[in-house]
Amino acid sequence: MASPRDILLVKSGGENAVPEWRDVFAQLCPDLDVRWWDDPEVDPAAVRFVLVWQPQPGRLAGYTSLKVIFSSGAGVDHITDDPQLPRHIPIVRMGSAETLQTMGEYVCLAVLAIQRELKRALNAQPEARWDEFQGSRTAPQTRVGIMGLGNIGQTAARMLRGIGYPLAGWSRKRKSLENMTCFAGIEELDAFVRQTDVVVGLLPETPLTRGLLNASRLALLPRGAGIVNAGRGSLIVLSDLIAALDSGHLSSAVLDVFEDEPLKPEVAVWRHPRIIVTGHIAGFASRRARAEHVARGIAAYRRGDPLPNLFQPERGY
Ligand SMILES: NC(=O)c1ccc[n+]([C@@H]2O[C@H](COP(=O)([O-])OP(=O)(O)OC[C@H]3O[C@@H](n4cnc5c(N)ncnc54)[C@H](OP(=O)(O)O)[C@@H]3O)[C@@H](O)[C@H]2O)c1
Repeated sequence: MASPRDILLVKSGGENAVPEWRDVFAQLCPDLDVRWWDDPEVDPAAVRFVLVWQPQPGRLAGYTSLKVIFSSGAGVDHITDDPQLPRHIPIVRMGSAETLQTMGEYVCLAVLAIQRELKRALNAQPEARWDEFQGSRTAPQTRVGIMGLGNIGQTAARMLRGIGYPLAGWSRKRKSLENMTCFAGIEELDAFVRQTDVVVGLLPETPLTRGLLNASRLALLPRGAGIVNAGRGSLIVLSDLIAALDSGHLSSAVLDVFEDEPLKPEVAVWRHPRIIVTGHIAGFASRRARAEHVARGIAAYRRGDPLPNLFQPERGY
């Protein structure tokens, strides 16, 4: 008798997305039985893998043979917030090649927007005002500092280098990266900030990354510096950022992530003349690209190899 196929239960994109998930997994991992999260015919004991976004609390505890949880997004708090989560089951964070590419594109767009003063041009347009200003510096004259040198930070660094920006980076553990000054640990953060003209936030949210860019640290940035944040909103104390922009110490900011999303209409950053807001759109990936990442993870699990992009609870990301 043929052994039953491993079940991958999917809760990502709604039930209508299941045929597409099935199609892509049929090519990548043909022995997988892909089922919708609420499929009444699924035997909970047969579920080996799940690919989820915001699973209902308590549900994952019911899958007694579950081997790996795949998060459909980069963050995992939508899974780990579940008080009944079986903590021994590994969680793989989304990290598709397309996410790296699109995040890198966004970072280039945002850094260029700050360096070329795009917000000033955008402010003139609704008034039909011809604002013929000259830029103040070129890319090689603009030092970019990346907070977070993980998969995305390193991809963004490669793309920024192609434009000509001098680069520095900051991470928890020291990195050795080509053509880049690498800072590490909280004790080197101030030195990193002091020599940065555009800060790029690409950090996960952990108790140690919350509020790192507060008034005193923003004051260490050189006058006219700018800020990009596409990691997690909690990195920046927004009221301190607004004060630093209003005082003229900072030039502009491009923000994609916020502590409270979606950002409420009454929040001041929407209307701030020196802030460009985007609605958590920096990174995106097709279902095909995300399925490729999951298929690589399932193959690694079956071979007994380390899982890619594994969430490590002790470090918080
Ligand atoms: N806006 C969007 O659309 C979007 C899309 C995808 C992802 N994201 C966000 O992007 C962020 C980065 O993703 P990733 O895949 O690059 O993550 P990753 O590979 O896990 O890298 C995280 C980086 O942050 C560093 N880090 C973590 N805690 C730190 C601390 N306390 N002090 C200094 N450095 C610290 C890590 O240092 P070590 O290298 O020393 O470990 C690592 O370099 C995540 O927060 C994710 O949620 C946003």
